[in-house]
Amino acid sequence: MTSAAAQPQTGSLDIRPVSGALGAEIHGVDLAGETDPAIWDALRSAIAEHGVIFFRDQALTPAQHIAMAEQFAPININRFFTHAEDYPQIAEVRKEPEQKNNIGGGWHTDHSYDIAPAFGSILLAREVPAQGGDTQFADLALAYDKLSEGLKATLKTLSAVHSSRHVFGKAAVRPDDLTSRIGNADAATQDAIHPMVIRHPESGRQVLFVNPGFTLRIDGWTAEESKPLLDYLYEHAKRPEFTCRFRWANGSIAFWDNRRTWHQAINDYDGVRRLMHRITLEGVPISA
Ligand code: SIN
Repeated sequence: MTSAAAQPQTGSLDIRPVSGALGAEIHGVDLAGETDPAIWDALRSAIAEHGVIFFRDQALTPAQHIAMAEQFAPININRFFTHAEDYPQIAEVRKEPEQKNNIGGGWHTDHSYDIAPAFGSILLAREVPAQGGDTQFADLALAYDKLSEGLKATLKTLSAVHSSRHVFGKAAVRPDDLTSRIGNADAATQDAIHPMVIRHPESGRQVLFVNPGFTLRIDGWTAEESKPLLDYLYEHAKRPEFTCRFRWANGSIAFWDNRRTWHQAINDYDGVRRLMHRITLEGVPISA
């Protein structure tokens, strides 16, 4: 716990938690023009405290989006997503009216297959449907806290294998209408083994670190042996009381911590465009 004296001065910031689990909507900051280092410190504290933070009415240009991201960490250039024109740092998460399938439609943690999984992702809504297209987030620190002491003790002895290959690689099975959105299959060579319970690098909290998108199996177990335990953990982690849901408008931003959260994009808006710009931030190696 940070002492009161060391708390960053939040001044004009208005930080409103959005659920009993994780997430806070932050008002009183202009992310394009903010020059006060204390405000950036306060935002760094807010992401560590809430796991995901949301902003409204931040119509950043791509250059401003990049500058804002660099206040937090160096940018990790995504290998697989089509990027915004002239900005390789910005991945496009796009669904056009004729598409049925979306990107990110199942629970996952961005880049968990990297040795140093991405710290965070900053998603900016460029064009969103009038209804639908929300994003859900789950809190894997709270989900871990609510497991029995016996299962926690077992999980602390285990690691899990994560990979990019089955999602982005040559053998990945992907709907035809996503082929133009995702490419560079040759670069999908990442495999990483991470403890199933990690110590969050900033908050020090213990976090359940497996996800349905990129975790293949428990290290040293077969996929078949792993499935019942992983399925149990996945059902547990997506319980409504561990989640929050964000309703987008153009210019909204969600900034989540990938070491503590899962997210999924709800695909309930056929026939209209949804276009998001995502910047992913470099992380550090993680440990138990
Ligand atoms: C993502 O999975 O990074 C995209 C989430 C979204 O589009 O809401």
